[in-house]
Order: sequence, then structure tokens, then C-alpha cells
Amino acid sequence: MPKPSNEIIRSQDGSHTLMSGQFDTTYHSTHGAIQESNHVFIEAGLDYLVDIKPDIEPIHIFEMGFGTGLNALLSLLWAEQHQRTIIYHSIEAYPIEKATWQAVNYPELLHIEPQRFHQLHEVSWNERCGITSNFHLHKISSPIEELDLNQDIDLVFYDAFGPGTQEELWRPPVLNITTDLIVKDGVLVTYCAQGAFRRHLIALGFDVARLDGPPGKRQMIRAVKG
Ligand SMILES: C[S@@+](CC[C@H](N)C(=O)[O-])C[C@H]1O[C@@H](n2cnc3c(N)ncnc32)[C@H](O)[C@@H]1O
Repeated sequence: MPKPSNEIIRSQDGSHTLMSGQFDTTYHSTHGAIQESNHVFIEAGLDYLVDIKPDIEPIHIFEMGFGTGLNALLSLLWAEQHQRTIIYHSIEAYPIEKATWQAVNYPELLHIEPQRFHQLHEVSWNERCGITSNFHLHKISSPIEELDLNQDIDLVFYDAFGPGTQEELWRPPVLNITTDLIVKDGVLVTYCAQGAFRRHLIALGFDVARLDGPPGKRQMIRAVKG
């Protein structure tokens, strides 16, 4: 049976997100997709990492859930702005359709040529591709449960659908597949602030902080590996 397709919807900051036909939930906060990605992954993640590790170069990011490619795009723009090198590894089991990534309004809202965003979707899966001199993209076409990645990771963007939708991705043993990759003092950020998830991270040896969430969300989690 073909999987149900995704519907493009406008979030409150004007940026698009998708309603997943397969999972019956949205890819981002409906309060603002770009706003949420910037708050959780760029500011609480990338900005924080270079605050605590100013000399880190390159930065290896692992993203759980490539989705629309919005987090990858914001990281590409950050790398350019900060003149830092990012190797961005991102796993996705259910890539979105071409007509969908061609239609989302991120290039327009971020004032970039559409081709710069589309390139992130067009490059091959399962190999490391140079997008710019300081942004390299390694898209992994696989379920997280079968991840085969031999790479130390400095920063994780844990951007799975929420525990209400995919509870198994927010606890061991699946959670450990990602946390095992993280170096000592490496960082995991996520929009989710669920108590059970927080306790799993603590049991796995992380120092866990609950930070203010993006608009519309009280809290988020940032965890540093001990
Ligand atoms: C919240 S969305 C990610 C949003 C994305 N980071 C972005 O910037 O648009 C969660 C993603 O996880 C993917 N996913 C769901 N189950 C998965 C699994 N078992 N393994 C890998 N990816 C999965 C979904 O297809 C979806 O793209």
C-alpha cells in the first residue's frame, strides 16, 4: 500500500511545516517552524557547543530525522556566517517527496536562492557530499534502528517525532544507538522535555538541563555527555 503523503501547512511564523500522513503529526512546532529550529538546534545547540568548545573544528553533527532539511539548511547558513566547518550526518527512513521539498518556503523566508536548499535534497544518499567548502552533508537512508555509522559525534539534533507518536525512539535500546556516538562533553539538544526521556539520558551518564522552549513550548532539553 502506498504511504499517505504529507500536507504542507503554514506555521505561525509564516514558515511551512508538514503534516505527516503516515504519522499524523507535524514535522515542526505549529507556532513557528523556523523559529523552533533556530531556538532549539542552532542557538541552544550549535551556538552553545562553540561557546564551551571554542576550538572545535570540524563539528560533527548527527541529526535524527532529516525530514524537510530545515535544520540542515540553517546549519549550512550558520557555518557560512561563522566560518566554521560542519560535517552533517542525518538519518532518514522516509524521505519526503520532491514536489514537497520544492514547494516549502524556506528559501524565500531565509532570502537565499532556492537551489541552495534544493541541493541538500538532490545530493546522493549514503555518501559524504561537499555542499560548500565548510558544509559537508552525509545523508543516511536507513531506519535509526539499523544505523551503521562509525563516527564520533560532537552534537546531536534529536528531532524524532515526539514520544506520543514514536515512544520507542525516546528510550533504550534505540536511544543508545545515537547516544553511543557522542564524544565526552558532546551535546544533545531536542525540543522534547518529557520526564521519562530526561531520566533515560541521566541514566546514560548525561548532565541534563531543561531550558526555556521556543514560543508555544515551555521547555526543551539540552544534555551534555559526562
Ligand atoms: C520531526 S521530523 C524531522 C524534522 C527535520 N529535522 C526537519 O528539519 O524538517 C522526524 C523525522 O524522522 C523520520 N523518522 C521517523 N521514524 C524514523 C526511523 N525509525 N528512523 C529514521 N527516521 C525516522 C521521519 O520520517 C521524519 O522525517
